[in-house]
Amino acid sequence: MAVKLLVTGGCGFIGSNFVRLMLRTHANWSIVNFDKLTYAGNPANLRSVEHDPRYRFHRGDICEEAAVEAAIGDGVDAVVNFAAETHVDRSIADPEAFLRTDILGTHVLLEAVRRHGVARFLQVSTDEVYGHVAEGSSHERYPLAPRSPYAASKAGGDLQVQAYHVTYGTPVLITRGSNTYGPYQYPEKLIPLFVTNLIEDQQVPVYGDGLQVRDWLHVDDHCRGIEHVLLHGTPGHAYNVGGGNERTNLEITHRLLAQLGKDPERYVRHVEDRPGHDRRYALDTSKLRALGWSPRVGFEQGLAETVTWYREHEVWWRPIRSGEFAAYYRQQYANRGTE
Ligand code: NAD
Ligand code: DAU
Repeated sequence: MAVKLLVTGGCGFIGSNFVRLMLRTHANWSIVNFDKLTYAGNPANLRSVEHDPRYRFHRGDICEEAAVEAAIGDGVDAVVNFAAETHVDRSIADPEAFLRTDILGTHVLLEAVRRHGVARFLQVSTDEVYGHVAEGSSHERYPLAPRSPYAASKAGGDLQVQAYHVTYGTPVLITRGSNTYGPYQYPEKLIPLFVTNLIEDQQVPVYGDGLQVRDWLHVDDHCRGIEHVLLHGTPGHAYNVGGGNERTNLEITHRLLAQLGKDPERYVRHVEDRPGHDRRYALDTSKLRALGWSPRVGFEQGLAETVTWYREHEVWWRPIRSGEFAAYYRQQYANRGTE
């Protein structure tokens, strides 16, 4: 069956991997990619599909009703909302853009979906909405307890999505993904930051003791999880998407150092911790597994392939690191005391 998707934020990390994967695996799907092109949005991420007749790019802001209306055009079968401000450290430095895009933008999309009677709205959310998890793992039934401005903004988006289902019967779905890694990730995030620093022979800034735990998920598995929920999820429900790969940041760091042949003594710099830093996230993914999804990419192999990708694609990340990113990096790390 022919399916027309409106994907927002498709020029970012996960969105661009999703667009490529869906066009590759569904011959009769077409995709309109609606993206504001913030610092994180990069048209180069989708160079390989830009001439595909099933793909169309539409530049615009999800907070602007008229622009969203124009992108929905004569109708779409589903909207998948990846568009967001996504970096926790930036949300601590300046939360406003997060509140705008992650909350107001979600509202504008929900209204457009309601006006047009779109058959499915999928909100791409995050495990961070559950907050720090001391023991066990977060189930979809658990209350939201976000602790950073980013997480609170994403939780605000989720709550609106749930409210639209209850109030208006809008056919919504939510995915809550864990820490995602893979090709085309903007180098502000832990793995691409550390890999590109090490390739440039720079130290890597580990926050605090580095014993914080994240559950790592390969971007292809995340995209397949979103696809699975879109196709098989029950409207009104949320689904956790986690890789089941809990690792401390120091474990990740040592793996990257080993693959890039760098001495930990020289290259690890423990710096002042992130304020309010959540120690651990962990997801119970039994609900999505029961629906037939499971991750396929082994973590060690996925991480090694990701390092190789960054080694072989300097042409992709060098222009990023020399642009806006350079000023961000100085502001974020230059005066961060060593712990
Ligand atoms: P990203 O920062 O790489 O990309 C975000 C994209 O959204 C960019 O292309 C940007 O230009 C676009 N965008 C931002 N504001 C916009 C606006 N107002 N209107 C239109 N487009 C706008 O993000 P990502 O890491 O690919 O994350 C995608 C989604 O997945 C986000 O909703 C994020 O919260 C969620 N998520 C990310 C992870 C992760 O580990 N990266 C894990 C779980 C969930
Ligand atoms: O859990 C899902 C979330 O994962 C997504 O919703 C977010 O969009 C995404 O950014 C990511 O959030 P994190 O804050 O977990 O990712 P980040 O890569 O920024 O950090 C991962 C861990 O590494 C975290 O414990 C902080 C630590 N860290 C990060 C950076 C950038 C460092 O120790 N040093 C660093 O320089």
